[in-house]
Amino acid sequence: MSQGGQRYGGHESRNFMTIAAIILAAGEGTRMRSKRPKVLHPIAGQSMINHALSAVSGLVDLPPVLVVGYGADQVRESIGTQAEYALQEEQLGTGHAVSCVRSKLEGRADTIIVTYGDMPLLRGRSLGDLLALHQSSECPVAMTSFTGDKARMFGRVVRDDRGHVIGIVEEAVATPEQLKIREYNVGAYCFDADWLWASLKKIPISPKGEYYLTDLVGLAVKEGYPVESLIIDDPDEAIGVNTRVHLAAAEKVMRRRINERWMLSGVTILDPATTYIESGVKIGQDTVIFPNTHLQGETVIGEDCGIGPDTTVVDTKVGNQVRLIASTLEKAVVEDRVTMGPYCHLRKGAHLQEGVHLGNFGEVKQSILGPATKMGHFSYIGDAKIGENVNIGAGTITCNYDGEKKNPTEIGDDVFLGSDTMLVAPVKIGDRSVTGAGAVVTRDVPPDTLVLGVPAKEKRKLEKSD
Ligand code: UD1
Ligand code: CA
Repeated sequence: MSQGGQRYGGHESRNFMTIAAIILAAGEGTRMRSKRPKVLHPIAGQSMINHALSAVSGLVDLPPVLVVGYGADQVRESIGTQAEYALQEEQLGTGHAVSCVRSKLEGRADTIIVTYGDMPLLRGRSLGDLLALHQSSECPVAMTSFTGDKARMFGRVVRDDRGHVIGIVEEAVATPEQLKIREYNVGAYCFDADWLWASLKKIPISPKGEYYLTDLVGLAVKEGYPVESLIIDDPDEAIGVNTRVHLAAAEKVMRRRINERWMLSGVTILDPATTYIESGVKIGQDTVIFPNTHLQGETVIGEDCGIGPDTTVVDTKVGNQVRLIASTLEKAVVEDRVTMGPYCHLRKGAHLQEGVHLGNFGEVKQSILGPATKMGHFSYIGDAKIGENVNIGAGTITCNYDGEKKNPTEIGDDVFLGSDTMLVAPVKIGDRSVTGAGAVVTRDVPPDTLVLGVPAKEKRKLEKSD
């Protein structure tokens, strides 16, 4: 497969070339002041390194190679088999990091994209443009840059009088004159593999004792190659996260991108500035998101819903025409036309079937509420199976925990639980039965029965309504 680094130019070359990617992620990220490796910090619910992997994944013929070092095991555990790994035991700089991949890729890839794991906003589309620029040029390296006013510790792109790139100088070693340059190195490159492997050995050690990958640009120029830089229009793509201040800036941009994508696909977002949608979430057409709403994890929201204000939904499946107000839902399922809130809490395993209504201060855990069942005011339902069209009176509680274990409650269809009913589990209530206000139900109640009192006793049989 290898074509020995020979250039074909133009579009067809992809058919002959094997393209690989290296993502550098070995640094500790000292400036983050964190116990966790920098690249595992999340942006919109996914680690930075995950975003970097998504950007390259559509362009490569081989699995991307991550250079890991600080917290290598944690990074491997988090990413798994989506990538291959090369270990950089000592962090001697970005140039040294790339050289750690030599044994994995030398002879296997012709073209190599190199990016940094701390650049979560760089788009796959831009890397595609970089690849195209590289393939159409005579130079063994193509780079990316952007212009702007925020230096954010970036390397500066130095050009000669005619505007040709002559090198990249790192902020730490730049002269006061060079620090004024307003063209910055993004940190994404495309190399001819053979030239890369040969040239890495020539990188000199910096005054700080590191081998800078960026020195390869100056090296290529010295060898007489005209290095070209893809200038990225959107400077946000280049946000490299070195500190938690940068992390917040990146989060904000990612949030805006996600919100705009949903708005363009037919979701109304009243206040994008206070709407936090993670990247794994899906939302149906004509749903309206009210302010201060957080949609996280693998959440799926259906069509024509109203979500928020002040609502958090985590790993939950929500059907169509659902209305959620000021509530928190975690690992739950909510079917079509459910209405909820304000101030409800669905916990793991809560399943509300079609048309269920939860009013104020309801909590449901590991329970099914059947179609059209209503729970209007401050109740707790846990480990219960509740039928269709049940009225759960104000203050009803499943006393599911006896101090040792959780016990189940079963309620049939069309049951009427009076206000303040205590269901001391394990307990069953048959179809159409009724409990009086304040009843403490300690024994099973057959169908069509009225029970009253503490403990609840059978008062009389009820006539079946149909
Ligand atoms: C780097 C660039 C700079 C560019 C900026 C863009 C170099 C020398 N400088 O600077 O020109 O403007 O990114 O964001 O490349 N890493 C390793 N091993 C190491 C050192 C770093 O894997 O020995 C990894 C880090 O984990 C990180 C990435 O490489 O993901 C970049 O390193 P970092 O120290 O953040 O470089 P910058 O100072 O930001
Ligand atoms: Ca960086």
